[in-house]
Amino acid sequence: MIIAIDGPTASGKGTIAKALAAHYGLAHLDTGLLYRAVGRQVWLSRGNPDDPDAALAAASFPESLLEDEALRSEETGALASRVSVHPAVRAALLARQQAFARQPGGAVLDGRDIATVIAPEAEAKLFVTASVAARALRRWTEMQRRGETVTREAIEADLAARDERDRTRAAAPLRQAEGAALLDTSALPIEAAIAAAIALVEQQVAPQ
Ligand code: C5P
Repeated sequence: MIIAIDGPTASGKGTIAKALAAHYGLAHLDTGLLYRAVGRQVWLSRGNPDDPDAALAAASFPESLLEDEALRSEETGALASRVSVHPAVRAALLARQQAFARQPGGAVLDGRDIATVIAPEAEAKLFVTASVAARALRRWTEMQRRGETVTREAIEADLAARDERDRTRAAAPLRQAEGAALLDTSALPIEAAIAAAIALVEQQVAPQ
């Protein structure tokens, strides 16, 4: 079984993907991490993330970079969003994601284009979203906990800019795939969001 989960930053899709993988005993791939590694690599090599050649060169990042804590930062997220607009970067990461999706036993993948490009054949597809305000509050709470000082307004502006870039780019824009179930987590505690996600997967895998 392949479960494809797409949605914007801080929608809860990563936590939901991990929980679904544990629930069904499937492997999980956070595909955002691959784009974050490209963003980080371009920064480490002092390249320009908006230059397709520099971004493509960074797509052959060393595997060890995936363990780098810096991948989780907002700065790296913004760089990831910039390098991911280049079709050549997306093409360079495609085979790896598709091989993961098609491994024996199945998998859960989360990202922006899983149900539209990487695995349109997935048995279950979820589009997880939440209001910008709800997502900014979550991100802000996380950052407060890590001792980072940043205003909610700044986070909201950054999320809105990232959403706009991800939704309007020509290559694999973020959108709800045909047949994907919509899950709005704005007003849901995470346990309720996970329960709702499992129910939606069940409906798709074994329709009544
Ligand atoms: O999900 P995450 O915030 O880690 O993703 C970082 C950025 O990587 C996104 O804003 C998006 O631009 C890009 N991305 C993508 N396609 C994916 C996953 C992430 O374009 N499948």
